[in-house]
Amino acid sequence: MLTVEPTGAILGATIRGIDLSRPLTEGDFGRILNALGEHGVLRFPEQDLDIGDVQRFSLRFGDIQGASAQDPDKTTDPLANVGVLSNIKENGAYIGSPDAGQDWHTDMSYRDVRGFVNVLYGIRIPRRDGKALGGTEFSNMYAAYDALADDMKARLEGLTATHDFEKFWEHMRRDRASGRPPMTPEQRKRRPPVVHKLILTHPISGRKALYANPGYATRINELPQAESDALLDHLFAHQLEMRFRYTHEWNERDLLIWDHLSTIHRAIADYGPNELRLMRRCQVMATKVFDPDFPRPAREAALQAA
Ligand code: SIN
Repeated sequence: MLTVEPTGAILGATIRGIDLSRPLTEGDFGRILNALGEHGVLRFPEQDLDIGDVQRFSLRFGDIQGASAQDPDKTTDPLANVGVLSNIKENGAYIGSPDAGQDWHTDMSYRDVRGFVNVLYGIRIPRRDGKALGGTEFSNMYAAYDALADDMKARLEGLTATHDFEKFWEHMRRDRASGRPPMTPEQRKRRPPVVHKLILTHPISGRKALYANPGYATRINELPQAESDALLDHLFAHQLEMRFRYTHEWNERDLLIWDHLSTIHRAIADYGPNELRLMRRCQVMATKVFDPDFPRPAREAALQAA
């Protein structure tokens, strides 16, 4: 029997009583969706999963983004969309992305069809003096919205922001000494900036959330540049206040999922090159929750099955 145990913090719940290597019933999937809409970050501890299990579970939430941001969809490997995040090297080369997500952002806010859920499976967790390193930190965008003054909420309603993939990429190169090469003109063409409303109504909970993030949001389109810069700075500072934050400390065999529509996140880079971290990751797009092929009645049926 699946149980949902809230962490008691501003985000997060632990889901027990389910083996994710086995097919999920509609009822359990509905319960997981509901818990995701409410708690934003869900931990499934002590899961023994292979790559196919991680992919199959992820696909319940929507389509998975292609093989990598650098080189998408150029592979015939059916499991290539299950990514590797790791600082482990083999034959002198990293076996996965060593510095993915190491500052605040929302995955795929830079896409028209944006990110919905991230699925991360912890295989190797760095530890120092017994303490787990390389946690993942979140901030709650329902709470950030709720805490805005009424006149600010009214001001943001109807405003849109531009989100640009290159902003985060260049930030990592410039400010974090990332070894990423500059984006090529071809990569830029594949990732043109997109526009989303600043306030969204969450498709599961019906609650309002602030949809902006320092990683990718570059401009508020309806305002002059200086006003846009000032408002974005204000929102970025507001959404990162400590009262909205929650950190997940990893254990091996944790499967963690989180909702990109109501949270922002970062990977904490507090471990060294010899402290090894290995994760499997699927970035799931909002092709079901917002998509006409998965319309409101179907979503509600899934939620009601819970
Ligand atoms: C990510 O931003 O998707 C990675 C998070 C992590 O590695 O903790």
